[in-house]
Amino acid sequence: MGNVTLDDKTFRPYIPYSRIDEAIAKVAGKLNEDYRDCGEVPVLLCVLNGAMVFFTDLITRLDFNMEVVSVKLTSYVGTQSAGTVRKSMDFTGNVKGRKVLVVEDIVDTGNTIAEISRLLKEAGAKETRICTMLFKPAVFKGSVPPDYVGLSIPNDFVVGFGLDYNELGRNLKDIYVVDSQ
Ligand code: IMP
Repeated sequence: MGNVTLDDKTFRPYIPYSRIDEAIAKVAGKLNEDYRDCGEVPVLLCVLNGAMVFFTDLITRLDFNMEVVSVKLTSYVGTQSAGTVRKSMDFTGNVKGRKVLVVEDIVDTGNTIAEISRLLKEAGAKETRICTMLFKPAVFKGSVPPDYVGLSIPNDFVVGFGLDYNELGRNLKDIYVVDSQ
């Protein structure tokens, strides 16, 4: 794994896929335990675009029936959270009266998951839980931390495995960290 250049920044190797794979296996094991006998078909909500790679890898390891719905929100410009979260695409399916598991790529300030939880409540979801591949606890400002976390990381800007810098780097199989801020 060498460095990669995306736009004006260089990123160095940070988390190899082998560690991501182990983390996803653990999360999938917990989700299987918690949802297998929950008595209904939950909705798994893919938060586009960042979560799509994690989402695909995760759901193929789940052994309970589920429905898939997507939503798109944006809060980041460059490497800084813009603070305000914009909904740029509506839920692609009905969540009314459903148990919803939100699948996120990364929880940073927590603004995005707070907004998604609010939107889900507004749309009539009866239960919302959050599953995220990466969590930055040092910058989290929310009141409720994610229910399922793959890996906790320091406050570093990362790309790869779905995460982007100015829309680039989502296709990288491993996770990289910014080298020059
Ligand atoms: P939050 O709303 O501050 O929790 O940020 C969540 C969103 O910001 C994520 O869904 C990502 O799209 C983006 N984000 C946060 N941290 C990073 C990062 O290190 N790399 C790339 N995107 C990030």
